[in-house]
Amino acid sequence: MRRVTVMTAVVAGAVIGLAGPAQAAGLDPQTRRNTLTAMEGEAYAHASYLAYAQEAERTGQDGIATLFRETAETERYDHFAAEADLIDFVHSNADNLRESIAGEEHEATVVYPSYAEQARLDDCPEAADLFTELAGDEATHAARFRVALQAVLNPGSGIIVPVGEVVPPVPIVRSTPACSGRTEDNLKTTLRGEAFANAKYTLYAEHARATGQRRLARLWDNTAGQELGEHFAQTAILAGLVGGDADNLRTAIAGEEHEATTMYPSFSRQAATADDDRAAALFAEIAHDEADHASAFLRALVDLSLGGSGGEEAKKSGRQPTSPKA
Ligand SMILES: [Fe+2]
Ligand SMILES: [Fe+2]
Ligand SMILES: [Fe+2]
Ligand SMILES: [Fe+2]
Repeated sequence: MRRVTVMTAVVAGAVIGLAGPAQAAGLDPQTRRNTLTAMEGEAYAHASYLAYAQEAERTGQDGIATLFRETAETERYDHFAAEADLIDFVHSNADNLRESIAGEEHEATVVYPSYAEQARLDDCPEAADLFTELAGDEATHAARFRVALQAVLNPGSGIIVPVGEVVPPVPIVRSTPACSGRTEDNLKTTLRGEAFANAKYTLYAEHARATGQRRLARLWDNTAGQELGEHFAQTAILAGLVGGDADNLRTAIAGEEHEATTMYPSFSRQAATADDDRAAALFAEIAHDEADHASAFLRALVDLSLGGSGGEEAKKSGRQPTSPKA
């Protein structure tokens, strides 16, 4: 299993600063697009495994809970971080804020209002209410980021970076899909978007801390916490993300197998064809990690099916939890 330090991405972003997307000099545009697709998958795996861990804990399957939690950390603090580093995803604090303001405004004024309207058409008022609430929250995020940007651009002006608020996480309970039709799809898309926002903002927080912007780091962390602990969680409950432990393991195995045998191998071959050797090697290495994840989940499923703890696998693998914070 590969390990990269969180600081690798942070330092790269700090040094390169304002260079923007062109900073990944020489990287084929398709390699960059594939990397972003992979990062979305990693962020989603991270968030959904944390949700599965909650169910395992609730059912007394502590070993499975540990396995999901440790794997979630690998997805975010190893795979997602390494891919972000590859494409110089983290920019200056000001540019990170500009990019995020645009994203939040788009969610607040276009995406979630249209999802709410669709939910009303699909006769799913719970989803319409949720999307309306999300739109309001994203507008608040954009407003805070705008103030933070002014503070960062005008040091000494007296403008203070807002830190946002700590939002208590909503427990994700086992559920079945509450809506059908396009709204069911929109809920799934929302899960991916919120998981990505969470992972992205935690990276931005690391960069802000590394550059001495402690209030900005708190703002990123608090916003990231709301994206995952509230937005992803509330959406997960309506989407029916979490099932029983065996179902969750099966879903995870299918995802890992797809990444290990289809997605990452194809990304690695594309990168090799484009002479992006570092990307090709990274994708190949991650493909092997995903195969290990699939196999660990499969062994846990076997243990569970045999009536065991299901999490003996976590102990056998000898993994140690990694620290999520630098
Ligand atoms: Fe991964
Ligand atoms: Fe947001
Ligand atoms: Fe959100
Ligand atoms: Fe994985």
